[in-house]
Amino acid sequence: MKIIFATQNQGKNKEVKNILNGNSLEVYSLYDLGNNIEIEETGNTFKENAFLKAKTIYDVYKVPVIADDSGLEIEQLDGRPGVFSARYAGENCTFDDNNKKVLKELEDKPEPHNARFVCHAVFYDGDNLLEAVGYLKGVITKTPAGEHGFGYDPIFIPEGYDKTLAELELEEKNKISHRSMAFKELKEKILKLKG
Ligand code: IMP
Repeated sequence: MKIIFATQNQGKNKEVKNILNGNSLEVYSLYDLGNNIEIEETGNTFKENAFLKAKTIYDVYKVPVIADDSGLEIEQLDGRPGVFSARYAGENCTFDDNNKKVLKELEDKPEPHNARFVCHAVFYDGDNLLEAVGYLKGVITKTPAGEHGFGYDPIFIPEGYDKTLAELELEEKNKISHRSMAFKELKEKILKLKG
């Protein structure tokens, strides 16, 4: 089954292809299709935004679509950046701007800065809507470290590790990440649907 992954994010694209490709599933991202459509994320929850992305792209291509909405929730910031994770430091901000803003907001708060990544993944083929959610718990560091991954990876240490996510190889991140948990479960559901 050919599936479009409704993302422009190359970091996510690599991670999800690594998880889903094979087992007769072939994933193409919007980037692979040369489509730079902007999808407005107007929902108030990860779930609403994930479905919005899937539905928008399904309406364009009329083939099965997967999408996710994900983000970082920090306990001491009352769950922020949450659904605003991508643009936390403002429109057109960089990953680095977001990390700086988070570190600044946590500067005067006592450690540990408990946090979790959340990923809400969906599959939509016009008839069926399948969903799965994944979490990754950890803490926010004082200083960014590592070159791998994307987004908040350089300032997030997963539970049970002494390195940031950006210091782990993709294969290692994929064993534990919120996105990997969500898409592995979604993959099972898609394969069942195919019978
Ligand atoms: P989305 O593309 O709307 O799901 O936005 C997700 C945003 O959350 C990204 O731009 C990152 O800032 C953050 N994020 C989600 N997953 C990860 C991850 O695995 N590592 C680091 N940051 C992430």
